[in-house]
Amino acid sequence: MSKKTTWYKDMVFYQIWPRSFKDGNGDGMGDLYGVYEKLDYIKSLGCDGIWFSPLYPSPGVDCGYDISDYMDIAAEFGGMDAFTKVLDGAHERGMKVIMDLVVNHTSTEHEWFKKSRERIEPYTDYYIWRPAKAHGKLPNNWDSLFEGKAWAWDEVRQEYYMHLFAIEQADLNMDNPLVREEVKKILKFWLDRGVDGFREDVITFISKPEGLPDDRLLPFSKGIFMFNHGPHLYEYLEEFRRDVFDHYDAMVLAEAPMVTPKKALEYITEDDTQVLDMMIQFQTQEADCFFTDFRHTPFNLRKMKKAFSRWQDGLAGKGWNMLYIENHDHPRMVSRYGSEKYQKASAKMLCAMYMFQSGTPFVYQGQEIGMTNWYPESPLMYEDVQTRWQYNNVGTNKSDEKRLKPLWNGSRDSARTPVQWSAEENAGFTTGTPWFYVNENYKEINVAEQEGDPDSVLNFYRKAISLRKTLSAVRHGDYTEHFKGSSKLYTYTREDKRQKLLVVCSFTDEAVKMKAPADFDTSKATLLLSNYKENGETMKPYEVRVYLLNK
Ligand code: GLC
Ligand code: CA
Repeated sequence: MSKKTTWYKDMVFYQIWPRSFKDGNGDGMGDLYGVYEKLDYIKSLGCDGIWFSPLYPSPGVDCGYDISDYMDIAAEFGGMDAFTKVLDGAHERGMKVIMDLVVNHTSTEHEWFKKSRERIEPYTDYYIWRPAKAHGKLPNNWDSLFEGKAWAWDEVRQEYYMHLFAIEQADLNMDNPLVREEVKKILKFWLDRGVDGFREDVITFISKPEGLPDDRLLPFSKGIFMFNHGPHLYEYLEEFRRDVFDHYDAMVLAEAPMVTPKKALEYITEDDTQVLDMMIQFQTQEADCFFTDFRHTPFNLRKMKKAFSRWQDGLAGKGWNMLYIENHDHPRMVSRYGSEKYQKASAKMLCAMYMFQSGTPFVYQGQEIGMTNWYPESPLMYEDVQTRWQYNNVGTNKSDEKRLKPLWNGSRDSARTPVQWSAEENAGFTTGTPWFYVNENYKEINVAEQEGDPDSVLNFYRKAISLRKTLSAVRHGDYTEHFKGSSKLYTYTREDKRQKLLVVCSFTDEAVKMKAPADFDTSKATLLLSNYKENGETMKPYEVRVYLLNK
């Protein structure tokens, strides 16, 4: 029997990164009181569900992805009472709620870690500990994805522990059955409280190869091919499914760096081998960078199109796509694949570009008003642990300006500034002092302004989402990309028995001739959606058109 949960296939999700969404109690930090105030707003977008980035107690080294207690909600976000209110409020509005499950690592402030470093049973082997080697050599040559090498020395235990992310994020030893029991306890705890599923953080990293061998392959980011999709990953996910998910109607979305469609199908094929519902792939994020956002390259439309089509074609009829263009880990799309000069047009085009593909779309807070990157004048203004490490350790011989640029293009903080609710002070995010900088363009780009404007990015999102839900070709249709060689237009069709939909997106500010595939007669079609009032023979800067032919 395949995993029985299917409700997510008709939905659009909204991602909340709680610190910057909305402050409800005036202390400058986003919280669940703020979320509660905005439930109707989220619903008004046409969204049916919310993914919460971590809400648990955490020292905040990685903005909540370093968890010190999995069974509670942080006081700064309003605690369990505020969460229950939000959960009930969402359910009353017919919306689902999924939580972030971060179990590749815990905070070093977690009780398990404190006991493990003291060798207090049963916690001794909860983490990946290794003794020192001769001549000060580390247990192996792997790199941390955030800062330095993947090992930190613990004075108390007199051993090294593994950290694939920040030093304060210690990797759990998932090979220990007791740790897997803890994971299942966490899952049940939240599912029994009514949560509808999980987004599983870097879940493909949880199984490390036996003996933790050195990486002899990669010059940088050593280790990633060794610990990604490790030997027992499938087995552990199957165990979670069998012991937990089979007993609930819950959705499981897995974050999967470097995954290909072929690899994804080992987990998400809809048959009795299925252990996950969807995977978050990274390939569609790599059209303007190499491997990480910090290695910036000019935007390459063909690379982007190839990535989207690879996933549309690769999963067709076998598995389900998770669709997104933004989240809390990547800079804003208008600034990357679109254009800040044509902010409004390109934000709308990017919306339609992915909204009519096959899968379940996710919208990241602020994306729906076309928020753009943040350009701090000093590197000291960055909060993100990964960004700070980059700044302090990469290219330190270069000028300040040369060192700041990659951060502008690559930092996760570019997409973590507070949501711009209005033109009031602090963008209406808080009545207090915001925990983080507000993007200076909030007077021009904000929700209040866009609510009243039928032509706004916000109302375009509403239209696109509601159209998506009424079109059978979007839910069931085949996907075909056209004019693959074009470096200016992205053109695709979606087709089922009843309808054929044509989506044409311009990724340039130059005028380009509008072109439809030979078998799609636009003169017989209805133009359902566009970001310009007049649509002629040439496509205007960042123009998008969505045509429908009923058969
Ligand atoms: C995931 C999260 C990211 C976090 C990292 C470590 O990639 O999305 O925000 O920093 O895992 O938990
Ligand atoms: Ca607050």
